[in-house]
Amino acid sequence: MRVIVQSDAAAVGRTAARFVATLVRERPTCVLGLATGSTPLGMYQELIRLHREEGLDFSRVVTFNLDEYVGLAASHPQSYRQFMHTNLFAHLNIDQRNTHVPDGRALDLDAYCALYERQIADEGGIDLQVLGIGTDGHIAFNEPGSSLGSRTRLKTLTSETVADNARFFGGEQDVPRLAITMGVGTILESRRCLLLACGPTKAQAIRDTVEGPVTAQVTASALQLHREVVTVIDEEAAALLVRRDYYREVERAQELLESGGLRRLVPGQSTS
Ligand code: PGA
Repeated sequence: MRVIVQSDAAAVGRTAARFVATLVRERPTCVLGLATGSTPLGMYQELIRLHREEGLDFSRVVTFNLDEYVGLAASHPQSYRQFMHTNLFAHLNIDQRNTHVPDGRALDLDAYCALYERQIADEGGIDLQVLGIGTDGHIAFNEPGSSLGSRTRLKTLTSETVADNARFFGGEQDVPRLAITMGVGTILESRRCLLLACGPTKAQAIRDTVEGPVTAQVTASALQLHREVVTVIDEEAAALLVRRDYYREVERAQELLESGGLRRLVPGQSTS
């Protein structure tokens, strides 16, 4: 797992957007997995800027969102479909027909969840999955105890998640208790994961995810089993990481590698 520590949330957003933009430029028909919540907002703002100022083209990009509250229609102001529309889709040249957010009003949930999985597979799978993390260590709405092999399904939210998300509603009493969410197994099948976290409330969850054991009690820790995860976090979210200095060393080597400078460190390869 690559761990990139940035000075603040704005820098996390810009760095994360760079990973997405590079993929969109290399593969204009790529499939993006997207997340809601406060954390990816900076990344979305930067992607909108890149679209407006540098012509980043989303016309053939396909997206799948991680989750949706059960019972909320797409038009509900707190639905994740509305969130994506307001914060991203309305500002890009994306074809709305290529954007997928689970349907919170689906009646036959088992059939609907199986359909969502099929839609992902039919598009060739997810190339890059953007993830936030809950204070309880969840990815998507895979709460503690979720099977690490789980697929898209119905999930009951923990009281911690309900309290965390109450700020988007009138209060805790208005937060839906159930959600449709991609499973941990679904997420692990994406080709690359981009995990984002900002602020001190995420420090313990990030420590558990990056340096703790793999456990269903912290579903984000399952990312340790994935072959290509990039974790981009700010200083506050990184505060409890024991190997922080080492992650910085790795990033310095990565920068040298990307700039071609690594050759200068190999005896006999110096060109200067
Ligand atoms: P947040 O939520 O980005 O609003 O902190 C993250 C999550 O619960 O996955």
